Amino acid sequence: MSNRTFTMIKPDAMKNGHAGAIIDRIIKEGFKVVALKMTKLSAEKAGEFYAVHKERPFYGELVEFMSSGPITAAILEKENAVTAFRDLIGATNPANAAEGTIRKLYAASVGENAVHGSDSDENAKIEGDFFFSGLERF
Ligand code: RTP
Ligand code: MG
Repeated sequence: MSNRTFTMIKPDAMKNGHAGAIIDRIIKEGFKVVALKMTKLSAEKAGEFYAVHKERPFYGELVEFMSSGPITAAILEKENAVTAFRDLIGATNPANAAEGTIRKLYAASVGENAVHGSDSDENAKIEGDFFFSGLERF
């Protein structure tokens, strides 16, 4: 298992002022931030990032939402990072997320759910490379 994962703080959490608290929580949970930036996805780039969901009924909404405002992207390091981070963020639908998870604390709906977390080591690598050059990671 790899020790890196990729995350985005989504436009809803950015807009609602939760970015600082979320990054603080991530660090307190023992993740090391090895790359970090604030940026804004174009609809085209958001569509490319979530291309795996192209055929799903929520794809259009997802692309619109993810390009609606700035996001914070980061690469995180911890033992078993992908699984550990999925545990920390909780279920996709915040209504089903465990108490204390980031989505339970900060997300309002399944569509606008505060954070992204990679679902596999392979995707963590692809997603980190999508946002960060070699000069931007430490
Ligand atoms: P993510 O990729 O953002 O970390 O979320 P996830 O793995 O928990 O969920 P995934 O199945 O990969 O879905 C990606 C994102 O699409 C939006 N979604 N909307 N309206 C809906 O039913 C629905 N289902 C998924 C969410 O923003 C979800 O995080
Ligand atoms: Mg996913």
